[in-house]
Amino acid sequence: MVRNRDRVGRRTDRSEALYRRACAVLVEGVSSPSRGTANYHPFPLFMEGGEGGEIIDADGNRYLDIMLGYGALIHGHAHPRLTAALREAAERGALRATANETEVEVAERICRTIPGAERVRFANTGTEAAMGALRLARGYTGRRKFIKFEGHYHGWSDPFSVSSNPLPSGAIGHYNDPIPIPDSSGITPGALEDTILVPWNDADRVEAALKRYPGQIAAIVTEPVMANMGVISPGAGYLAALRELADRHDTLLYIDETVTGFRLGIGGAQGRFGVQADIVTFGKALGAGFPVAAIAGRAEIMGAMRWGGVLHYGTQNANPTLLAVTGNSIDMLNEGNGEAYRRLDALADQVTAGLRRVMAEAAVPALVQNVGPMLQIFFLLPGHEHVTAIGSFRDFAAHVDRERFNRFAHAMFDQGVYLSPSAALHSVLATVHTPQDMDRIIAAARAVLSNGQRGLIEPPADV
Ligand SMILES: Cc1ncc(COP(=O)(O)O)c(C=O)c1O
Repeated sequence: MVRNRDRVGRRTDRSEALYRRACAVLVEGVSSPSRGTANYHPFPLFMEGGEGGEIIDADGNRYLDIMLGYGALIHGHAHPRLTAALREAAERGALRATANETEVEVAERICRTIPGAERVRFANTGTEAAMGALRLARGYTGRRKFIKFEGHYHGWSDPFSVSSNPLPSGAIGHYNDPIPIPDSSGITPGALEDTILVPWNDADRVEAALKRYPGQIAAIVTEPVMANMGVISPGAGYLAALRELADRHDTLLYIDETVTGFRLGIGGAQGRFGVQADIVTFGKALGAGFPVAAIAGRAEIMGAMRWGGVLHYGTQNANPTLLAVTGNSIDMLNEGNGEAYRRLDALADQVTAGLRRVMAEAAVPALVQNVGPMLQIFFLLPGHEHVTAIGSFRDFAAHVDRERFNRFAHAMFDQGVYLSPSAALHSVLATVHTPQDMDRIIAAARAVLSNGQRGLIEPPADV
């Protein structure tokens, strides 16, 4: 067992004590399994605050934060303009659960900004928005089935909870006939009956599925960048091919922009890749750290989500206090005609190139992939050093050394950089990060991989 005192460079006693307390009252000691010992060893760091681009743990250690609340904190922690907006809005009361002007103002901004967004419905989380969007697609088309891609994650609701987790490649079946693997216990077979599982980044497989179920597919549902298997870019023309297939086979294209929305550009992945969905959902960066999500799309389709049509409720929908933050965040992202995104992309280029250099210098077989300010390091398993790109769920399952990434991430904590320790997730950058911060990440990775500390990324002998 690696003990707290064995951590290099910093004490984390308070985190350890809090974890003991937490285990007595919280399942696994946390509120989402990815925060617990599935990813963190020997205990999670308890984070108590953040400032700009840094996060601060319960023992007062500061880390450069490139996890950023799994991508939600587009402007970093406690941005003064956003905290002022929040305070001002909260002083008028937390919640109305009524029609309110703030929701109109923020929906107007979304319609002005997002390709194809003619109507908006607010929700609270990416999971909820995806549930609503699927129900909408089914209700509008009168069809039950939908295409879901291997390795894509759309939240934890039943119909999407299949083959979202990285699995040993032996279990996933033949490429032409993927075996659907439920992500969880407690899901009835009926809930997954209409989920048609297809490999991503291959338009021919989508067309084959559309032909197999003619007139039965409500929507092709896709992440525009595969963001829950590291970072995997859509192949050239792939998203346009999905658009064309949806039109030709008279089905809808639903793009889940929970991760990419307001992150890859003001128009999200749709803007970046020049594709327009029929339905799109947002979460994460939309709320700049607060639970705000949205479903948007063509007015005719969105119009089905009305009283007596496709039902969508929510006491907390369009919480005006949180939407005050969203409105200000969108304004900040819009200022300077795309300047924030040009900076984010430049920072991403800097850190990606630097990390590639570090891996090469240390002769560590690893790939660094990014799409704009979303990036991930893929350590390659022994015997897989020849692999030059991770392009799919199956590549990820076959070639990526997830254990090694996990140890690397823990060693990065000791160097003062906080990133998700799951190889299937990814790092992101915030508008408040600087080129000096990127140098700090590169230097930390170099220190971890330098000969002196190489042991940190080898399996500890006594675990
Ligand atoms: C593409 C995608 N959709 C939906 C979700 C679910 O969002 P939330 O965690 O806000 O429920 C996630 C979460 O990571 C996601 O990556």
